[in-house]
Amino acid sequence: MLDSFGREIRYLRLSITDRCNLRCRYCMPDEGVPLTAHDDLLRYEELLRVAEAAVSLGIDRFKVTGGEPLVRRGCTGFIHALKALPGVRQVTLTTNGLLLPPLLDELRAAGLDGVNISLDTLDNVQYQRLTRRTHTADEVLHAVRLCAARLPTKVNAVLLPETTDQLIPLAELAQTLPVDVRFIERMPLGTAQTGQTASADVALDRLRMHWPQLKPVIEPRGNGPARYFRAPGMQGCIGLIDAVSHGFCDRCNRLRLTSTGLLKPCLCYEQGAELRPLLRGSADNTTLQSAIRAAILQKPAAHCFQQRENITEHKSMNQIGG
Ligand code: 5AD
Ligand code: SF4
Repeated sequence: MLDSFGREIRYLRLSITDRCNLRCRYCMPDEGVPLTAHDDLLRYEELLRVAEAAVSLGIDRFKVTGGEPLVRRGCTGFIHALKALPGVRQVTLTTNGLLLPPLLDELRAAGLDGVNISLDTLDNVQYQRLTRRTHTADEVLHAVRLCAARLPTKVNAVLLPETTDQLIPLAELAQTLPVDVRFIERMPLGTAQTGQTASADVALDRLRMHWPQLKPVIEPRGNGPARYFRAPGMQGCIGLIDAVSHGFCDRCNRLRLTSTGLLKPCLCYEQGAELRPLLRGSADNTTLQSAIRAAILQKPAAHCFQQRENITEHKSMNQIGG
């Protein structure tokens, strides 16, 4: 359906857990992470009810996210059930990749349409510093290779001042593997509230110096706001997601559901529709549908990442759903 600014809302990100096996500095605090009690998380049946109601309002694409979605038991079965709902056209997954390799075959069999793997650096030492855990970038790269051989795969890298030397090595993955590599400006949310992103425009200038023949990809690609580029010989594309410096709110087509059932119309603001009480009360599907419709109509014209004092969302990204 259309929101009050005429944008067609057709995409819902479902966070199935706030837990994660990493502690990326820009996403989560290291210690004292307030983990949500099991009972407060939406159960898979509840998530499916939300998805069904969303489909009836014209939302036909879903992204399963976290925290790290693969740490939640039963994730593959959930993806299977979600993809099997009538009217669902596409289900994709965002993951840090670490738990992915042994699940790839069952995820593909479940009908998963694509995977986004987060990888901000190829340098193992830097990866450990950024994620505050002992896994390595090599492990993730291994998952990227296996995944790319089975499913449409994207690599997502957050643009950080300390990883500017990784821009070209990461982008080269689009040359050597059939993957899109997307660089995302760091949004000032949660543990990333202070500090700077590296700019997508500066990144693009540097990519163009390295690949003078880099050209914008004209045909639409993906559901989201990335601008895509390609140079001759590349198997995948290079994408830039400049949420902070340009903003693409006029084309924003999405809603987010947190793992505890808050349906958020915009990342920047804390407001949204609390669906859990409805799901656990006696609300019927029409009531659920009306709550989703109301959230769509509440969707603001734009985020406020440029005026940080106006940001009212203070949860961290693992709680919001990355
Ligand atoms: N800005 C941009 N992206 C972020 N992510 C987490 N926190 C932020 C932030 N502040 C990304 C992760 C991952 C996805 C789930 O969200 O790197 O790619
Ligand atoms: Fe986990 Fe992703 Fe957050 Fe890193 S960015 S801590 S991988 S949820």
